[in-house]
Amino acid sequence: MTVGIVISSTRPGRVGDQIGAWMAGRAGAGGDLIDLAEQGLPLLDEPEHASTGNYARAHTRRWSERIAGCAALVFVTPEYNSSFPASLKNALDFLYHEWRGKPVGVVAYGGVSSGGRAAQSLLPVLVHLGMIPVGTRLVRFRDHLADGRFVPGDALDSDADDLLATLRRATTPVVPVPPLAS
Ligand SMILES: Cc1cc2nc3c(=O)[nH]c(=O)nc-3n(C[C@H](O)[C@H](O)[C@H](O)COP(=O)(O)O)c2cc1C
Repeated sequence: MTVGIVISSTRPGRVGDQIGAWMAGRAGAGGDLIDLAEQGLPLLDEPEHASTGNYARAHTRRWSERIAGCAALVFVTPEYNSSFPASLKNALDFLYHEWRGKPVGVVAYGGVSSGGRAAQSLLPVLVHLGMIPVGTRLVRFRDHLADGRFVPGDALDSDADDLLATLRRATTPVVPVPPLAS
């Protein structure tokens, strides 16, 4: 099963690439690291609403294929002005059916609030798109720095593993339990 790990920050000098790479590392072979900075998505330029599935632009078709290939997603998002960044909202708005029914986790990070308000504002959007949120993890980035690099440590590693395990469980079809023999 492929878990798409989406780096939402597109800012030069961002820390989001380090957090995304860490999450993808925890996901192992099943992780697909998706960097919004490399997707080449402009501000939404599709004439039709994504629910029609009629995509006029090549960048939308590429984005659609990438997300369609994921069974679950983790959005790695910074907090900007008490919310999640416009880059992520724009990327979400480009698609519709590709998001629906997929389990999703949020890893939010930031300054004073550790990304809590970013996660809080993102969740209703994910629910609107028909995704199934299974958990949020907050990272107070400045507490995990060594020589300017992100060093998560055991507690965050185990938090990440727990989120990924929950996502995997949410994508596993429930096998009916046969009745007990009398
Ligand atoms: C435009 C902007 C707005 C920000 N607003 C907040 C905020 O409201 N709350 C917060 O805790 N941190 C805020 N920060 C700090 C960021 O969360 C922090 O710089 C983080 O590293 C940004 O992620 P990035 O480096 O991956 O882009 C803001 C940073 C930027 C660039």
